[in-house]
Amino acid sequence: MKYPVGIDFGTTNSMIAVYKEGSGIEVISSDSGKRFLPSVVYFKNASEAVTGDNARSMQLLESENTISNVKRYMGTDKIFDLYGREYTPPELAALFFRKLKTLYSDYTGEKDAEAVVTVPAYFDHLQREAVRASAEAAGFDVLSLLNEPTAAALYYNNIGKKEDELCLVFDLGGGTLDISLIQIKEDCLKVVATGGSTQIGGFDFDVAVADYFNNEFAKINEIDLRSDPIAFQQLLFQAEKAKMELSSLNETNLVIPYITITPKGPLHFKQTIDRELFTKITKHITDKIRKLVSDMLELNGINTKDISRVLPVGGASRICNVRSLVAEMFGDALSKDINPEEAVVSGAAVNAAMQTGVVTDKKFFDVTSHNMGIEDDNGDFEIIMKKNEPYPVEFSTRFKTTDNNLDKVTIHALQDMAGSALNISDSPADDPEYFVSLGKFDFKIDKNEEENLIDIGFAIDVSGIVSVWTKDVKTGAEHDFTLKAEIDSEKIKDIKIY
Ligand SMILES: Nc1ncnc2c1ncn2[C@@H]1O[C@H](COP(=O)(O)OP(=O)(O)OP(=O)(O)O)[C@@H](O)[C@H]1O
Ligand SMILES: [Mg+2]
Repeated sequence: MKYPVGIDFGTTNSMIAVYKEGSGIEVISSDSGKRFLPSVVYFKNASEAVTGDNARSMQLLESENTISNVKRYMGTDKIFDLYGREYTPPELAALFFRKLKTLYSDYTGEKDAEAVVTVPAYFDHLQREAVRASAEAAGFDVLSLLNEPTAAALYYNNIGKKEDELCLVFDLGGGTLDISLIQIKEDCLKVVATGGSTQIGGFDFDVAVADYFNNEFAKINEIDLRSDPIAFQQLLFQAEKAKMELSSLNETNLVIPYITITPKGPLHFKQTIDRELFTKITKHITDKIRKLVSDMLELNGINTKDISRVLPVGGASRICNVRSLVAEMFGDALSKDINPEEAVVSGAAVNAAMQTGVVTDKKFFDVTSHNMGIEDDNGDFEIIMKKNEPYPVEFSTRFKTTDNNLDKVTIHALQDMAGSALNISDSPADDPEYFVSLGKFDFKIDKNEEENLIDIGFAIDVSGIVSVWTKDVKTGAEHDFTLKAEIDSEKIKDIKIY
């Protein structure tokens, strides 16, 4: 039987759930019986790829043929070379989506699936496009993309009648941090503001711990384990294990027998870490998180006391010093009755049920996460649409050409990644640290006119995907532009997925 589908494509783990009328949300288990599929792919050869737990275990032995954290590269130019063939991040992500599709089909007996796919609220247009294209290339009919924290709040609102409250969703996954302020009123959710970073997640804690112990090891043994991919990967695995154990224990060990061989014989690795040391090693990350949360609240004129509930979402929200930070900032508002790992995929399934008419008594409004605009004549950013606008939405500004000898104007559309914390108008538009280029195109104008009036508009669809349009006010001539993610379906079509 066909059910509405929710998909959480995660940096570390991916999940798929269906919404069953009457019985509610059901998370579909992977082949290994777990409720998630590790987002790791191992290429056995050029035409066979293994996903999930089995791929994760191959990360040690054949790291060159194993790719993890693909989501972090979505929307970038990164190329992965596997057995002499080049793959883009969306092409590799499509392999995960194909595996999720197989899990769905085996579970339901259905070939077709209408899905809501979640993305970090802070994802820009290019990253969103890449996710949409990956899911579609795998054969999902994508109803829409949904911001991960909004999905978590939808799920929270679905598990019982809620008081009116201002909620903060604190979503720290393996690779991304999203912070969303959401007003919950009976059965209506209204996202007020979003903040975060697509480059902070649980994985950064693993790297910080592994780096620290690598330095300690190097001081004594004069060996840098980073030069040995297998040894360093083992260290990363141990660092992650220790991080997870410290969520419930005060102290734990990192143990790797025979980590390397020296002329004097084999070396073993054994170190102890307690919460205090872990907190010290990872302080630079929690400092960044604290700042992102405070900045976001400050920008929106919200005091921590105004927030009546904080929903911890994402596996990394369990990290000991992250939990303490959130508890310190928000006290008793920290909610305990939410499953951090499953809230997002469950909310996506609820949303798919809403969009297919299975659930009819809920509503939500989400907001844009980035300022959008164009590069002006001086190479600076000119805002056309401010962030935190409820979407779908459209905004436009009228411009006058200043030079009457032109037959075209070049429009360079930009999405601001720095957030409104900075005076972005002063930032150079070509600085990739601040701006994502959504594309450049030429718009024809009439050279004989004294001055040309041009409307430039940004339209955001229900998935947060941006299109830019330009209109010549006098002639009515228009040009629409959306930067699309391209996937070479032929290249991945014949790859067998396990
Ligand atoms: N008990 C735990 N204590 C601390 N960290 C944990 C625990 N369980 C999982 N994690 C960490 O949570 C992260 C994975 O969380 P999750 O599955 O929510 O991420 P994701 O959805 O794949 O990532 P993202 O949402 O950023 O794309 C990993 O870094 C993992 O090490
Ligand atoms: Mg996640």
